[in-house]
Amino acid sequence: MRAVMFHAYGPPDVLTQVDLPTPVPRADQVLIRVHATTVTSAECGMRRGEPRWGRVIIGLRRPRKGVRVLGLEFAGEVTAVGPAAHRFRVGDRVFGFTGFGVGANAEYKCLSERASVTTMPANVTYAQAAATVDGFTTAWHYLRDLADVQPGQKVLVIGASGSIGTYAVQLGTQLGAVVHGVCSGRNAKLVESLGADRVFDYTVEDFTTSGERYDAVFDTVGRSAFARCRQVLAPRGCYLPTTGLVNNLLAVRTAVTGGQRVRTGMSVRKHTALAALRELLSENRLQIVIDRRYTMAEIVEAHRYVDGGHKTGNVVITVVDDGRPSPP
Ligand SMILES: NC(=O)c1ccc[n+]([C@@H]2O[C@H](COP(=O)([O-])OP(=O)(O)OC[C@H]3O[C@@H](n4cnc5c(N)ncnc54)[C@H](OP(=O)(O)O)[C@@H]3O)[C@@H](O)[C@H]2O)c1
Repeated sequence: MRAVMFHAYGPPDVLTQVDLPTPVPRADQVLIRVHATTVTSAECGMRRGEPRWGRVIIGLRRPRKGVRVLGLEFAGEVTAVGPAAHRFRVGDRVFGFTGFGVGANAEYKCLSERASVTTMPANVTYAQAAATVDGFTTAWHYLRDLADVQPGQKVLVIGASGSIGTYAVQLGTQLGAVVHGVCSGRNAKLVESLGADRVFDYTVEDFTTSGERYDAVFDTVGRSAFARCRQVLAPRGCYLPTTGLVNNLLAVRTAVTGGQRVRTGMSVRKHTALAALRELLSENRLQIVIDRRYTMAEIVEAHRYVDGGHKTGNVVITVVDDGRPSPP
């Protein structure tokens, strides 16, 4: 099967097109023919070996064997089922998250039937489904599991035009919160259309001096600091950063001190969030923002674009040609 691999940390050119044996599902696994996957900011960081402490997990000097094929999100079709796997049938259209095993930048991927995978609603394409998983489920983890956002609360989403951000604005609104967003002016209209009541253009405004008070400040892109956000946080408000080792330490400290808290963490088991995502998609209640589409052969270009830090929503990699034009 065709796949994209990297053997050393570095710029997008470390990615190479390779031929690998098609995997064979173990007893509890399903084999998925990947139709669409994505390039996320998180896996561009893995490719660069950043943050450096992350190499403790993915390989100190070079990426360890199990992470050399990137790809966190996928949508595809089940083509084989292990003898002890009963959740899915051959022909099912499925989408999900590969987690620490990555590996969706390939024509086929084996996953346990207990992994974060579920059937796709009939009304979305493979490209759309792949573009929802990590962004939505991360937004869910932070706004539902960590902050427990309630109707009437106020939420600020920093990076509101990114993958996590575009879903966080919509989810916050659906939870009944008043949502404000931070992005550049070129994305302000989009973020408003997703449900934000107010948008700060970070190129001309400083949201920390706005005089607003938020129950949750969700920094999806690591462009703020707890110390500065405290002035816009309610006395018992939550600061929710998706990145930054220091924030893990602050989370421990503020759990003890009380008052304004830092809550952070990765969501790896995504079953509840995936079920909610599936329902929202099937009811057409979620806008999926796809910025660009590339083929697998063009993945170096896709990484270059995502490395720029200014993608809007999601960047999709088409693995099986669905007849749509690739990059603009
Ligand atoms: N903890 C977890 O479980 C978890 C899970 C997934 C991802 N992550 C991490 O989350 C991070 C973000 O992921 P993502 O994929 O959502 O990001 P993304 O899509 O790459 O974010 C890009 C967006 O950020 C906006 N942006 C850039 N600078 C900004 C600034 N100073 N203020 C506000 N917005 C700004 C850009 O808007 P403009 O173009 O308008 O500037 C762009 O639309 C990554 O570092 C990833 O590693 C964590």
